[in-house]
Amino acid sequence: MMKKTVLVSGGAGYIGSHVSVELLSAGYDVVVADNFSNCDLTCFEGVRKITGRDDLPLVKMDFCDAAAVRKLFSDYPIDAVIHFAAFKAVGESVEQPLKYYKNNLDSFLNVQESAQAHSAKVLFSSSATVYGEPDKMPVTEESPRKPATSPYGNTKQICEDILRDTIFASKGAVQGIALRYFNPIGAHPSALIGELPRGVPNNLVPYITQTAIGKRECLSIFGNDYPTPDGTCLRDYIDIVDLAKAHVFAVRRMLEARMEADYEIFNIGTGRPVSVLELVQAFERVNGLKLNYRFAPRREGDVPAIWADPSRANTVLGWRAERTIEETLAAAWAWEKHLAGI
Ligand code: UFG
Repeated sequence: MMKKTVLVSGGAGYIGSHVSVELLSAGYDVVVADNFSNCDLTCFEGVRKITGRDDLPLVKMDFCDAAAVRKLFSDYPIDAVIHFAAFKAVGESVEQPLKYYKNNLDSFLNVQESAQAHSAKVLFSSSATVYGEPDKMPVTEESPRKPATSPYGNTKQICEDILRDTIFASKGAVQGIALRYFNPIGAHPSALIGELPRGVPNNLVPYITQTAIGKRECLSIFGNDYPTPDGTCLRDYIDIVDLAKAHVFAVRRMLEARMEADYEIFNIGTGRPVSVLELVQAFERVNGLKLNYRFAPRREGDVPAIWADPSRANTVLGWRAERTIEETLAAAWAWEKHLAGI
């Protein structure tokens, strides 16, 4: 059978690079496209090294450029596209909403138009942020989507709607899946790819590893007076390699015409809530070090607790999170040390 080709937009970034590795290992041809607005070549080169694929195609382009997207789809025989190319900083999106709406919506509209023209399947990288502050835990795919609390979150909701509406209007001609990620963390066990935030990290794990290596002085734990067992927020931290594998299951499902509906949604999480303090302590324990941290006021916009019910992904997709939080935090630390040349 002919190998199927998967386009990974934003494929040089944190999630895209891990997904590219898993797709290549599963036997797909991959085309990586990225405008390098929020990453450099480190992870792309890491993907080539891990997979031994020196011929892995890389297209430097902006998905907001409709003509460039059309050209990409005519240059390569794309069977499915996984769309990661988007801005993702929640705080920045509040300060610069137009930047976020323009970039995240234009790029997805262009991908959607070309995918439809070429009958390519679409996998959209969505987020647990679409649930807002849920009334009931854990959240299932049927849990209501609450009004977004940031323009970033709103772009995730709008892109899900664009995908859903296009699919319904096409009457069976177009199929797609939205994966709603909980909190992706960690790095590839090779320590050749991982999260590479520019400037001061917004997210917890890069802040922890940068504090441990001495790049940051002290981790602030935002809030210890939440209505949770230890007073710190609860999240569902999902290992980046486990998360990447979920994409292979979803792509296979679309390309092998095994979908039950033309548009499907899956939560991608572990189903286990972990507090910020527990995560910090697990990091210290598994890596045998002490982290400099202090309790600080709550961060605006944080929900006290959110975790997934991943049973639909477990039973319908056949995917399950496998790596332990210890393995994940050891990998995150190995990656930070790799960056520091240790
Ligand atoms: N946290 C700290 N200190 C830090 C950074 C984070 O205590 O320096 C805490 C946060 O308060 C939160 C937890 O660690 O309780 C996780 O924070 P992250 O920033 O790592 O992740 P979020 O849960 O805020 O973010 C996730 C996704 C986003 C998504 C957002 C929706 O990463 O893509 O949920 O709120 F938009």
